[in-house]
Amino acid sequence: MKKYLLGAALAALSTGATAQTIGFSQIGSESGWRAAETTVTQQQAEERGIDLRFSDAQQRQENQIAAIRSFVAQGVDAILLAPVVATGWDSVLEEAAEAEIPVVLLDRMVDSDPSLYLTAVGSDLVHEGEVAGQWLVDNKPEGECRVVELQGTTGSSPAIDRANGFLSAIEGHDDIEIVRSQTGDFTRSGGKEVMESFLQAEGGGDNICALYAHNDDMALGAIQAIKEAGIDPGDDILIVSIDAVPDIFLAMADGDANATVELTPNMAGPAFDALDAYMNDGTEPEKFIQTESTLYTQADDPMGEYEARKDLGY
Ligand code: AHR
Repeated sequence: MKKYLLGAALAALSTGATAQTIGFSQIGSESGWRAAETTVTQQQAEERGIDLRFSDAQQRQENQIAAIRSFVAQGVDAILLAPVVATGWDSVLEEAAEAEIPVVLLDRMVDSDPSLYLTAVGSDLVHEGEVAGQWLVDNKPEGECRVVELQGTTGSSPAIDRANGFLSAIEGHDDIEIVRSQTGDFTRSGGKEVMESFLQAEGGGDNICALYAHNDDMALGAIQAIKEAGIDPGDDILIVSIDAVPDIFLAMADGDANATVELTPNMAGPAFDALDAYMNDGTEPEKFIQTESTLYTQADDPMGEYEARKDLGY
């Protein structure tokens, strides 16, 4: 499969070409983070004079597969894909490869052979879970800590990896136990609904020491549910999540959330840079271009962090 990439690179070498028309298959708009990634991608494309053809899959893999096929039929120069789930991409990626169109994955991974995509831009999703878990290990109150977990979209790489990373961080800490775990589909409404059922099942919340949410939006929905149950989030129930969206910093400033692990919404910048170099002179990017995962807590000037992010498209 590497052959098609080499072919494209050699063809580009003779022209000094850059990608002018790029298809972007986005998952949807399930979270504030996702909205920001869409905005940043569109801004980055505009700045570089790229004609970005955007397709919103509304959380459905079949829509993403149809979008990729349509991009191939249109003869785009490259495709950006934020894959909703990890499995089931082989055939359509092979079709793009046959058409000699490089594909760059954004923020989530697939289980296909790496030769089927040019590169992937994203964070170390397991590490994000480890950072969140380590924060809890270091900050939990004395004694037994019963944790509830709001997982991301079932079958998505962040849901799988963030769960595993957290588990590995709490391994060996016998006083920390995940007592309930369910998907909230990365949405605020899902987080609220599932948290309500957790509260009901766990003595109205009295038996819960901490919430680990795979993204901030679910944490924010859960915080609402916790408040409505008359409990103090950030105090009675510790809240740790992932993304670093502006609203979680407001919640931190109010003492309602405790910690978040940042995921940059700028995946497109490095993706366009890699495509540019590749199309221009055949430079092969690293197979994985890793972004930072910084931990923020209530001690890290949450209002300042909110101000710095509030106009960035979240
Ligand atoms: O794939 C990244 C995840 O997808 C973000 O953490 C979440 O907010 C989004 O829905």
